[in-house]
Parts: sequence; C-alpha cells; structure tokens
Amino acid sequence: MTHKILVLPGDGIGPEIVAEAVKVLNVFTAEGNLSVALEYANIGGIAYDKEGQPYPDSTRALAQKADAILLGAVGGPQYDTLDRPLRPERGLLAIRADLGLFANLRPAILYEELASASTLKPEVVAGLDIMIVRELTGGIYFGQPRGIRVLENGERQGFNSATYTESEIERIARVGFETAMKRNKRLCSVDKANVLEVCELWREIVEKVGKEYPEVELSHMYVDNAAMQLVRAPKQFDVIVTSNLFGDVLSDAAAMLTGSIGMLPSASLNSSACGLYEPIHGSAPDIAGQGIANPLATILSVAMLLRYSLNRPELAERVEAAVEKVLASGVRTGDIYTEGCRKIGTVAMGDAVVAAL
Ligand code: NAI
Ligand code: MG
Repeated sequence: MTHKILVLPGDGIGPEIVAEAVKVLNVFTAEGNLSVALEYANIGGIAYDKEGQPYPDSTRALAQKADAILLGAVGGPQYDTLDRPLRPERGLLAIRADLGLFANLRPAILYEELASASTLKPEVVAGLDIMIVRELTGGIYFGQPRGIRVLENGERQGFNSATYTESEIERIARVGFETAMKRNKRLCSVDKANVLEVCELWREIVEKVGKEYPEVELSHMYVDNAAMQLVRAPKQFDVIVTSNLFGDVLSDAAAMLTGSIGMLPSASLNSSACGLYEPIHGSAPDIAGQGIANPLATILSVAMLLRYSLNRPELAERVEAAVEKVLASGVRTGDIYTEGCRKIGTVAMGDAVVAAL
C-alpha cells in the first residue's frame, strides 16, 4: 500500500528542517520497507506570496486526500502587517479546522544526553517521558457566545463560553485511553470540576469511557494542582488528557521542562487515520537560511507520523532510537550545544540520523 504524504514546508526554517525529515522517509523507501508518495504544497506566508492565501484551495484539495501531512512551520516578521485573515498562522488554524484535527498529542521527553538543558534539577527530570493529549477544536477557544459587550452601566465586558458536548469529550477521552494503552496504561485527566460545570461533565464522561479500558489506571487532577505537580514531580505523569485551554498552557510548560524547543514533535489527529505532524517550534526567522536549525523535532514528528497515521510503530521506534544514538555520539546543533560536544548544522544532523538508521 502506498501512503500519500503531503509535505508543507512553510516559512523560515521550515523548508530546511523538512528536507532532513524527508531523508528519513527515503531511508525506509530505499530499504523497500515503506511505500510513500510525497506531494508538496504551500502553507503560511509562502502560500500567501505565491497564491494570495495562507491556506489555498490547491493545498486544501491535497490535504483532504492525504493519509498524513508533514508540516515545517509558518510565519515571519514580513507578514506581521497583513490583515489577520491573510496571516500565515491563519493557514495553520484553517487546516486544523478543515481536517477536524481535534486531538493534539504533545510528548515531552528529556533525552539523557540533554539533561543539563532543563532548568529543573537533573534528578527531577532525568528520564522524563510524558504525553499530553490536548483537545484542539472545542472548549473556550471556540464556544459561543463570545465577544465584548457594553453593560447597562456603560462598562464593557469581555466574555467567552467554555462548552463541551458529551461526544466531544468522549472522542478526546478515547484518544487519551488509546494513547495510554500504547504506553504504560496510566491516564490522568486534568480538569477544574470543583468549579466548572463543563468540567463536571468532562469528568463524568471520561469515567464512562474508562469502563471500556479496565486495564488503564485512570486518575483525575485539578488543573492548578497539575501545574504544580508538573514542576514539582513531573515523572509521576505518563499520559495526560485535558481540554483545549488547559492543554495549551500545560503542554507548553511540560515542553519547557525539557529545555530544548528544537527537539519536540507533535501530532494532531482526527477521527480517521489522517494526522498533521509538526515540530512544536515556530519558523525561527532569526536563524532561517543559515543552515543551523535543529531538524530533530521534525524528524521525531516523522516518527509520530509512522506510528499514528501509517501504523508502523517499528519504524517509529527505529527513528527514535537513531536520534538517541546521534545524541549519544556527541554531535549537536547550536540550540542544544554544550561544551565538549561537536557543533554541526542542519544537513549534517539529518545525515547523522540517516547514518544511524
Ligand atoms: P520560534 O519557535 O520560531 O523561535 C523561538 C526561539 O527558538 C528562536 O530563538 C529560534 O531561533 C529558536 N528555535 C526554534 N526552533 C528551532 C530549531 N529547530 N532549531 C534551533 N533553534 C530553534 O518562536 P517565535 O520566535 O516566537 O516565532 C517566530 C515565528 O514563528 C512567528 O511568526 C510565529 O508566529 C511563528 N510560529 C509558528 C508556529 C507554527 O508554525 N506552528 C508555532 C510558533 C510560532
Ligand atoms: Mg501554545
């Protein structure tokens, strides 16, 4: 079976890091272990430059037919003066909404060799490996009504609505449990059920779905406590499932426990197997075009693509093992460089992973 993979390099360092990630896929196809058909299209600022829209119809048509999408990053200072609907970041929101990508998987892994990159004590973070499953298309970011209104006394009031339907909670809960089943069978659902009705329903539905996964040890935690526990003893967590807003904040905090933005991948999934895979970092305009960006977050995004959309966990594990081997060999891009290591550029890092594979 040939998998259709849509490649969206985007802006800034996007094309540089995506090129290295594609090399990894090419290793497997050259081995005869994988059959993929790669197509390339524009998203973000480059799409605006070439086609007048950050998410053009031509890209949409390819995205809807793809089995998986690999994205670099979008954005750059040259687009900051555009009207909001034309800005690169809108392209990202549009493709997520268009494909119904409601589940965002964000691992936070601290590689042994990079333990000193964290601002926390080594013993607190060594071996950290958690997965945050964030709901991405509902909750307070999308709930109606929303706006800014004028009250009777003339004062203005901003308001948003935190809404989740039973089916929205059920499908993200299921992703949480399925993810836990693929890992260590422990799931922590994070909410604020002591204060918010929407979270009361969240907790009830998560419990209900949990009955289908008797092997998974389910716990609940209030979000304020979860924030504290993430910085106090993050290794107590394995998989966390949470709503859009709480997940936004907690996943960035968890990512920074590892201290290396250039190392972290992400997956955004819908109810079919198609997913969008991208590094968590942006287009890094400050280093774009210099050949020094770290491609490992994008290469690790390919590992997630292989695991979640192509159902090839054995290939995903090979990619992850190759990255660890490369780090153990002592080569580093500038963002993760420490004394005593050998500093290399984007292409050399990609080549090192290919060699390790
Ligand atoms: P950023 O993540 O692009 O960069 C933050 C810092 O980390 C910079 O110093 C950058 O050089 C460094 N960095 C990021 N990725 C790196 C890598 N792979 N290797 C080495 N160093 C790396 O965030 P920033 O500067 O806030 O945003 C820049 C642009 O990216 C903006 O236009 C923003 O809107 C966009 N952005 C896009 C995202 C996406 O496409 N998903 C996510 C976040 C920001
Ligand atoms: Mg965020």
